[in-house]
Amino acid sequence: MMAAEIDGSGELPEASIRNIVEQEELKWIFVGGKGGVGKTTCSSMLAILLAKVRPSVLIISTDPAHNLSDSFQQKFTKTPTLVQGFPNLFAMEVDPNVEGDDLPNAEGMSSFVSELANAIPGIDEAMSFAEMLKLVQTMDYSVIVFDTAPTGHTLRLLQFPSTLEKGLTKMMALKNKFGGLISQVTRMFGVNDEFGEDAIMGKLEGMKDVIEQVNKQFRDPDLTTFVCVCIPEFLSLYETERLVQELAKFEIDTHNIVINQVIYNEEDVESKLLKARMRMQQKYLDQFYMLYEDFHITLLPLLPEEVCGVEALKQFSSNLLIPYKSTSDKKVPEEKVDELEQRVSTLRLQLKEAESELDRLRKGKQKMYDDSVS
Ligand SMILES: Nc1ncnc2c1ncn2[C@@H]1O[C@H](COP(=O)(O)OP(=O)(O)OP(=O)(O)O)[C@@H](O)[C@H]1O
Ligand SMILES: [Mg+2]
Repeated sequence: MMAAEIDGSGELPEASIRNIVEQEELKWIFVGGKGGVGKTTCSSMLAILLAKVRPSVLIISTDPAHNLSDSFQQKFTKTPTLVQGFPNLFAMEVDPNVEGDDLPNAEGMSSFVSELANAIPGIDEAMSFAEMLKLVQTMDYSVIVFDTAPTGHTLRLLQFPSTLEKGLTKMMALKNKFGGLISQVTRMFGVNDEFGEDAIMGKLEGMKDVIEQVNKQFRDPDLTTFVCVCIPEFLSLYETERLVQELAKFEIDTHNIVINQVIYNEEDVESKLLKARMRMQQKYLDQFYMLYEDFHITLLPLLPEEVCGVEALKQFSSNLLIPYKSTSDKKVPEEKVDELEQRVSTLRLQLKEAESELDRLRKGKQKMYDDSVS
């Protein structure tokens, strides 16, 4: 499925992420956006919703400043761990930078090798991301949700397949040119020395296959989608647009925007400050609706407290499926009750009048009949 279709009636796409939960083939879901907007909260809730309908779900944090552990209030590591309270929801935190540290530093490398590494920026990060994806591929989860790092970092990782393909192609070519040097190059990528050259090349070829496969999957909208999380503020709107355009460039599907921290007109909101913020938010909400009319736009209310722990996440996740209604929306307004009472009493009066009229007419008819027979 591509971007959400607007049906013939001109109605907007449904304001929920139900479309994702119901897209059965979906394998990779990226959740991204600016720092602090609620990526971890949203990806955790999405994973919880998916766990209800999928055999197995894995949520991965690729943010070096991990917070899945905070969100679920449970410690996670770089191997998938069952989230407490779920039979089929797993979480892991991978740090793209840690594995990179295992590589020899520039001093330890020959100038030739360091030159190569410099020629392919991001190759070490891309390599460890690829290793992780390869591992995850073999684990056979039904769907994988990525809680990504703030925008710039995420976009770099999504570029990784082409970065890596370039790097590997370069290495293959080098193998033929400089037979002996290849072992140095492969050491740089953390491949064990004991392997013979052919084994090493085999491994690299294998890696290239995984990359190509993942690359293809990421560009297939049936298998992969990107959920943009944001808040109704200028910078976030701006960053969302940048993200949507970059994703289009990488041919990665996106048709869902979650706007978090929306201030609703609750009946107990009297603060002038909040009312002013509400008006400001409304301005940006209007712009989101205008810019992304073919997207599913789901709003999440700003809560007075943090969303921490499985119970809070579960409860809050219902808003991703059923649009949130503020207390003042749910309640029938005072004026409306008055108005209805007024109408009912008018109708009662009119009914009474009509009844007595009918009564009079009946009596008149009866009298006419009586007169005619007598
Ligand atoms: N709608 C909301 N109402 C109140 N608090 C919220 C809401 N959404 C998220 N939070 C809280 O705001 C904080 C930041 O949210 P979260 O960690 O999900 O953002 P993030 O985008 O992942 O941040 P980072 O960029 O640092 O990874 C958390 O403490 C979370 O509990
Ligand atoms: Mg986060």
